[in-house]
Amino acid sequence: MARSTIREILKLTQRPDIISFAGGLPAPELFPVERVKEAADRVLTEHGAEALQYGASEGVRDLRDLIAERMSRGGVNVTRDDILIVSGAQQGIDLIGKVLLEDGDGLAVEDPTYMGMLQAWRPYNLCYYTVPTDHDGLDLDVLRRILRENPKLIYLVPNFQNPQGVTLSAERRRALIELLDEFDGIVVEDNPYGELRYSGEHIPSLYELDAQYSGKTTFDGHVIYLGTFSKILAPGVRVGWIAAPPAIMERLVQAKQASDLHTSTLTQMLVAEVARDGFLDEHVECLRDVYEARRDLMLEAMETYFPKEVRWAKPDGGLFLMAYAPEYVDMTDMFKVALEHKVAYVPGADFFVGGTAAGGHTFRLNFSNARPAMIDEGIKRLGAMLHEVIAFQPTH
Ligand SMILES: Cc1ncc(COP(=O)(O)O)c(C=O)c1O
Repeated sequence: MARSTIREILKLTQRPDIISFAGGLPAPELFPVERVKEAADRVLTEHGAEALQYGASEGVRDLRDLIAERMSRGGVNVTRDDILIVSGAQQGIDLIGKVLLEDGDGLAVEDPTYMGMLQAWRPYNLCYYTVPTDHDGLDLDVLRRILRENPKLIYLVPNFQNPQGVTLSAERRRALIELLDEFDGIVVEDNPYGELRYSGEHIPSLYELDAQYSGKTTFDGHVIYLGTFSKILAPGVRVGWIAAPPAIMERLVQAKQASDLHTSTLTQMLVAEVARDGFLDEHVECLRDVYEARRDLMLEAMETYFPKEVRWAKPDGGLFLMAYAPEYVDMTDMFKVALEHKVAYVPGADFFVGGTAAGGHTFRLNFSNARPAMIDEGIKRLGAMLHEVIAFQPTH
């Protein structure tokens, strides 16, 4: 398992003189610190001993109920038993790998895809089937050809994908569900950003469309769903969840138990207490307002300062967008130059299964973490650097 470039980069970008668009960090000034303080006090006062005791591997009841209620809003009857609490969606990815993947298995993924999944599943020496994406998400003709090869899983981030910011359209989601039905496939729907939509229409989740298609009202189809409180509350609590069909859930619970017994009882109770009485929904609305403004500011600044040779697409939500420099520009090499300009991004190469050859000219920008004034200045610095490298390119 290699150390993640992004984690290494994050260390460099913590220098105070650098404007960083690198990490996937939420805005720290929006963390509801006071609410968390009050909730911690209430949890410890009312359930102190329980909060500090070992708990069930599946997770704390109230939290599982809260998640089940939120996941049922689209019409599928999700229950507590469908939910396993994990220490962040990243642990969910790890456990799914342990339960379902074997050495050399086939995995269908968007290209580029989430780097943390590539890292977690590297030990399985997977055979990757990459599916190209456009502004509506996956190319389903390619996916259909891939499904004939019988890959073990499909892994997708259908909403505001990390790193591209692309969303799988409703039409393609429906077509994907039909394909899953035809080929009896399983998709991992990793959805950390789904609630952070700033423009466009809400699109139902794959697990909802899957249930609709098969006429079921329970969570028992072709989808394993990953959720997290990292982007809608705080990543430092390390609380996420997996919703899975019963046969798979059984094995996931065993893997969770073997891995770390259970996620911290105290933090699970804390999250449930913070979220209750509609607080989480209100908080998400506030995040949406702030992040939408920051996204727009970044897009405007890119229009103003970036050379015309650089391309990008507007994301309808989430925390990221991906930009494409001309292919002769190596954005991994340029990272050091960017630091000299006192600005940081994540080079895109590591998000591509094919690495530098496929995505060396790409870079990911996060718009949620920097304050508005910093966004304009940081993009200006990046724009200056890109103008320089493009102007001095001998073949240009
Ligand atoms: C697509 C995707 N999946 C999973 C994760 C991990 O989230 P968590 O903090 O819940 O482990 C992230 C975090 O950035 C992500 O972007």
